[in-house]
Amino acid sequence: MKGLKGNIIFTSSAEKFEIYENSYLVESHGKVYGIYKELPFNLKEIEIQDFGKSLIIPGFVDMHFHAPQFQNIGLGLDEELLEWLEKYTFPEEAKYSDSEYSKRLYTNLAKQLWRNGTTRVVLFSSIHTSGTKILMDILDRAGIGAYVGKVNMDRNSPDFYVESTEESLTATEEWILETKDKYQLVKPIITPRFVPTCSEKLMKGLANLAKKYNLKIQSHLSENEGEIEWVKDLHPEFDSYGEVYDGMGLLNENTIMAHTVHSPEDEIELLAKRKAFSAHCPNANYNLSSGIMPVRKFLDAGVKVGLGSDVGAGHQIGMYKVMSQAVQASKMKWFEGGKVGKCLSTSEVFYMGTKGGGEFFGKVGSFEKGYDFDALVIGDEDLGETDFRSVEERLQRFIYCGDDRNIIKRYVAGKLLSEPTTEREVAAAL
Ligand code: GUN
Ligand code: FE
Repeated sequence: MKGLKGNIIFTSSAEKFEIYENSYLVESHGKVYGIYKELPFNLKEIEIQDFGKSLIIPGFVDMHFHAPQFQNIGLGLDEELLEWLEKYTFPEEAKYSDSEYSKRLYTNLAKQLWRNGTTRVVLFSSIHTSGTKILMDILDRAGIGAYVGKVNMDRNSPDFYVESTEESLTATEEWILETKDKYQLVKPIITPRFVPTCSEKLMKGLANLAKKYNLKIQSHLSENEGEIEWVKDLHPEFDSYGEVYDGMGLLNENTIMAHTVHSPEDEIELLAKRKAFSAHCPNANYNLSSGIMPVRKFLDAGVKVGLGSDVGAGHQIGMYKVMSQAVQASKMKWFEGGKVGKCLSTSEVFYMGTKGGGEFFGKVGSFEKGYDFDALVIGDEDLGETDFRSVEERLQRFIYCGDDRNIIKRYVAGKLLSEPTTEREVAAAL
């Protein structure tokens, strides 16, 4: 057992922050044991780290991230989705057939996730199983919790970055068998890229694998208008893009659909009915001029919404940045929509970036008793005087003005994470 002392703040519900000033957050067996203003007699002997005035918050959960696009951050973001995929994304992802390239860049990626306090992440890898396994190994060593998906694509893809249907399904099953029980916090996830690049046979085959091995599923849905038109042309037999996934057996309570910017009412209802998650990626939606997801509509319909950086369509890894962008996006949506309804509040976006997305992982993203002990310690002295602001105000200020330098410690499932070492640093030390 151990305890961290500081100003504890989290959201057990989206409506408001829960705050325990100058208190102890106690861990036992990797889980939250309790929060105490004074330690009870039977806990007096446990090891305590006192972080003084610092904030203690749950680790960040990123619901949507493309690992092999990490090296492309900031490139080609004056394009729209489909052109950006062709020109920048597919050529970069194709490079991950090379193990040395994968090792080098995925180690850099693990370091950046660590730096930015992302303690749980749902990742797309590339179509290559070798690179995907390297990525899983690196995340496991870094101690970061993750679902990692080997990407599947067998149509409408460039000939340097495509698989045959059989090849795709066989390689995916082999990779599942090799990795599903290999790590404690890193797991495989079924990952059809999106409908335009996946044949019906592939999607149905992947749905069967998800069922056979009880796996999670991720894909993209209704991100861009051109993409939606394309899906309509490919599958006129379905009423909506979401119904294509549903018809293939890919939409259930284990599924995350990224973006859902343009989902019509019945698609939102379908997501709610299937208990699927939606990953809101405001940064990426700005960059690729995709539009703004009407998050409030999804919440009102009962869809579970988390946040995603969507690197490399998003150019920022820190989930604190995505939180502030989600508030900004909702305000623009509200303004453009004739000022009807309510914008997202800071507690709502914080909830989405912690407990909301954390639900996909289990009991993750909160400090309620029994939740996995995923915590960050935030030192915000350089962001302004701490004395004249409440704990909640200081958290707001960190979300808007802070960066990775304000994150002092990171814990996942009770374990303190040390900084992953990059290959360059290892080489320099020799
Ligand atoms: N749709 C299909 N592939 C991608 C991708 O890599 N990024 C985004 N943002 N959307 C996609
Ligand atoms: Fe994406």
